Amino acid sequence: MPELPPRSAPVITIDGPTASGKGSVADGVAAALGFHVLDSGALYRLTALDAERLGIDLDDEAELAACALALEPTFTSSRIFMDDRDVTDEIRAERIGNLASAIAPFPALRAALLDRQRAFRRPPGLVADGRDMGTVVFPRAELKVFLVADVEARAGRRHRQLIERGATADLDMLKTALHERDARDANREVAPLVAAPDAITIDSSHLGLDEVIAAVLELARAKGVAGGAR
Ligand code: C5P
Repeated sequence: MPELPPRSAPVITIDGPTASGKGSVADGVAAALGFHVLDSGALYRLTALDAERLGIDLDDEAELAACALALEPTFTSSRIFMDDRDVTDEIRAERIGNLASAIAPFPALRAALLDRQRAFRRPPGLVADGRDMGTVVFPRAELKVFLVADVEARAGRRHRQLIERGATADLDMLKTALHERDARDANREVAPLVAAPDAITIDSSHLGLDEVIAAVLELARAKGVAGGAR
């Protein structure tokens, strides 16, 4: 699917490593501008969940791509459903995140998800978060942000999220898992985690969520991406 003409639906991309706060920032920016949201990681997680359910071999690229093409998820403002089943919490499990990262390097799987991701771009605009939003999926995005945070800050955030959800979590194990996932996402050959040359990097290690959202909104205003601000 070709990209829509510029300005009919401006795109803000927010890429970055695991637990850098991309999702919360994307939600906050989209809410302020009245834009749609694409949580691209959810599509990789949904593919991992369904592949596991169907017993697909996690090395079988063609089957995984077919699984990704066949997905029929429904995204509401706060929940994700598959075949009427609410899978929001299930796909957020660390195990599914790691499975998603293990299958994400397959080019055929990534290609299978491309049109589905671009279809999220609709007026009045889109905020898309992931790893390759600014480099591959929306290379002509009006604003590209690369959101980073040091591993201590990211592990701490992930730890708090898991505890809030009633899960048990070990901080040191989380740090190790983050390092492993970062390395796999950054070193793969296809669509690695890397800042687009025209991306603006924000380090959120010592910033609160509202401060990061405000910084992105300021950049958006500077680029003339105003949206139907609320
Ligand atoms: O962002 P999230 O942690 O939900 O993503 C899960 C995994 O999906 C990532 O670790 C990454 O391997 C993969 N992913 C990707 N490209 C994206 C979004 C996620 O490869 N645009």
